[in-house]
Amino acid sequence: MNKILVTGGLGYIGSHTVVALQNAGYEVIIIDDLSNTQLEFLDRITSITNIKPTFYEVDLKNQEKVNEIFKAHKIDGIIHFAAHKAVGESVEKPLMYYRNNLLGLLNLLDATVDFNADNVIFSSSCTVYGQADKMPIDEKTPLKRPESPYGNTKKMAEEILEDFTLATGKNVICLRYFNPVGAHSSSKIGELPNGIPNNLIPYVTQTAAGIRESLAVFGDDYPTKDGTAIRDYIDVNDLADAHVKAIARLVEKKNKNKLEFFNLGTGTGSTVLEVVKAFEEANGLKINYQIKERRAGDIVEAYANNELAAQELNWKPTTSLAESMRTSWQWQQSL
Ligand code: WQD
Repeated sequence: MNKILVTGGLGYIGSHTVVALQNAGYEVIIIDDLSNTQLEFLDRITSITNIKPTFYEVDLKNQEKVNEIFKAHKIDGIIHFAAHKAVGESVEKPLMYYRNNLLGLLNLLDATVDFNADNVIFSSSCTVYGQADKMPIDEKTPLKRPESPYGNTKKMAEEILEDFTLATGKNVICLRYFNPVGAHSSSKIGELPNGIPNNLIPYVTQTAAGIRESLAVFGDDYPTKDGTAIRDYIDVNDLADAHVKAIARLVEKKNKNKLEFFNLGTGTGSTVLEVVKAFEEANGLKINYQIKERRAGDIVEAYANNELAAQELNWKPTTSLAESMRTSWQWQQSL
C-alpha cells in the first residue's frame, strides 16, 4: 500500500484530503504541530474512515524530528499543507511567516534528498497571481508580487521548488487553490478558524449562528456587477479529490514534467453578495450584513481557468456553491 506523508494533515484542507486518500486506499502519515488545529481531528478523521492515520506532533522547523519520520517510514509521496495562512497576521508578523512557511518547506525538501523520497504535492494559492490582468486565470498568467507576506511565502516556495526540481530531478506538483469553502458531509471535519475569522464563509456561518453581530462586506464600489469583489469558491471535498488525483499522477509516474502547476477552482466567479444570497437561499436564513470600506490588499476579481487540471488530472469540481453553503452551515451547527 502506498504510504503518503501529509503535513498539516489535521488542518482544514489537510483533514479532508487525508479522508480522501484513505478512501482511495493509501496509507497516511500525518505531521502536524497543532498550531492552528486540534488533536481531536485525528479521531474525527478516524471516525469517518475507520482507519487511524499514523500521527506525529512535529514542527517542520525541527529538522531532526522531520528526519526521524523519514527514517522510520518508506514514504511514496508527500502532500505539504503545513503553513501559517492568515493574510492579516502575516502583514503584522512577516518574519514569523517567512521562517515558518519557508524553513518548514526547506527541511521537508532536504529530507526527500537525504532519505531518497520523491513525489511532492505543494499547497499553493491563486494569491501568487495578485490581481491578474484577464479572467479566467490560467497557469500561464504572469505572476505578480502578492499583496501579503503570506502570499509571498507561496510565491517564494514555488520559486524554491523550480530550483529544487532542476537540481534534483524530483517530481513536484503545485496546486494553486482559489477560495476553499464547504465541509465534509458528515459534519465531523470542517474549517475551524482561530479567533475572529479572516475568511468570508466562516464569518458568514458565525453571523448566522449569532456568534458575530453582522457581516462586514468589504466594499461595494468595485467595478463588478453588484460592486462587491469576485472570487472562485471551490468546495474542499473537490480540492481533496484533486490532491488524490495529483499524488496518483506522480506515484504512477504519469507526470509530463518534473514541475507542474494546476489551478484548482470552479471556473466561475461569484461576488460577495452573491455568496451571501446563496448561503441564505441554501439554508433558509437571513444574514445581517453592512457595507464597509474596502479591505487593504484585496483584489477585485479572481476566478480560475481549470481546464489544465481537468485535462491532466482528469479532475472536475462537482459540488455546487449551494451545497458548499449547506455543508458549511451544518458544520457550524455541529460546533
Ligand atoms: C473573500 C472575499 C473579501 C471577509 C485569502 C487568501 C487565499 C486563501 C483564502 C488562505 C473578499 C470578502 C471577506 C469578510 C468580506 N488562502 N470578505 N467580509 O482574501 O480572497 O483569499 O483567503 O486561506 O490565498 O489570499 O479570501 O475569504 O478573506 O475574502 O467582505 O468578513 O470576501 O473582501 O472579497 P481572499 P477571503
